[in-house]
Amino acid sequence: MRHLIETSDLSTDEIERILHKATQFLPMLDSTTLDSSKRPAQSLAHTNIITIFFENSTRTLSSFECAVKNLGGSITRLDVSRSSTSKGETISDTAANLNAMSPHAIIIRHQSSGAPVHLTKSVSCPIINGGDGAHAHPTQALLDLLTLRQCLGQNLAGKRIGIIGDIKTSRVANSNIELLSRYGAELVLIAPPHFLPPHSKLAYTHDITEVIDSLHAIISLRTQTERHSKQNYGSLRDYANQFCLTKQLIGDRDIVIMHPGPVHHNIDIEDELLKDSRCKVLQQVRNGVAVRMAVLEFFILETKA
Ligand code: NCD
Repeated sequence: MRHLIETSDLSTDEIERILHKATQFLPMLDSTTLDSSKRPAQSLAHTNIITIFFENSTRTLSSFECAVKNLGGSITRLDVSRSSTSKGETISDTAANLNAMSPHAIIIRHQSSGAPVHLTKSVSCPIINGGDGAHAHPTQALLDLLTLRQCLGQNLAGKRIGIIGDIKTSRVANSNIELLSRYGAELVLIAPPHFLPPHSKLAYTHDITEVIDSLHAIISLRTQTERHSKQNYGSLRDYANQFCLTKQLIGDRDIVIMHPGPVHHNIDIEDELLKDSRCKVLQQVRNGVAVRMAVLEFFILETKA
């Protein structure tokens, strides 16, 4: 049984297949007509997919739910606040019980790194990681890869991509670093010292103005205060003075601006820049649905045993 815990669970060939499928799904998502030929095939008809999100989510949960429904599958959302985990049941027990209901996949988000891989031992269906602690967020990295290719061309080799913000506690950064490095992108981390991962071999700077002229794209990340054991910076305002992406900073440079959301307005990205056509945040969200449709088809229909 295959699971999607981190991007390295997929070979580059498999990623190509998933992104190709996602690209085929995209025009179908635009269809506002009732013409059934323009709608995605009902390939997940008669399947039941369980979502169990122990952390808040706006985009990822609804994106997976749209993806399942677009393919004709049905979703059972486990309401964690009402589940027995809040009565002391371990998540392995919860997973074993959910598994006994014979779902075709379980999509999990958890505040602890390693929770999804732990669950793989208690189930007989694919586990799809919707984000675990500061560890990994594979479907976000896949949708970011698709968005970058749409904007910069298929071949990312040699493209300079900045990742700016709270990189140390970001599962999005971790997954993007693995995936984008594999595709030959030149990554540069931009952050104050306390937000940089300690043992990274990647290029880094504390001053975005040093590298901005060389960048083709910048992925901005939220300051994940919920994952900090103590506040190790002055204030978010001080941080924003140096690391917020603004129209003035970007100027007329041809740089793709991305963010996984939720955006801290005027801390991560200035409101004016969010409205700029170089900012691809909503394109990322749209791509997310298509990528998750392709991921679900791949793990539920194509990979067996
Ligand atoms: C991110 C997450 O939850 O990992 N958002 C997302 O899934 N789109 C990033 C974040 O919370 O900052």
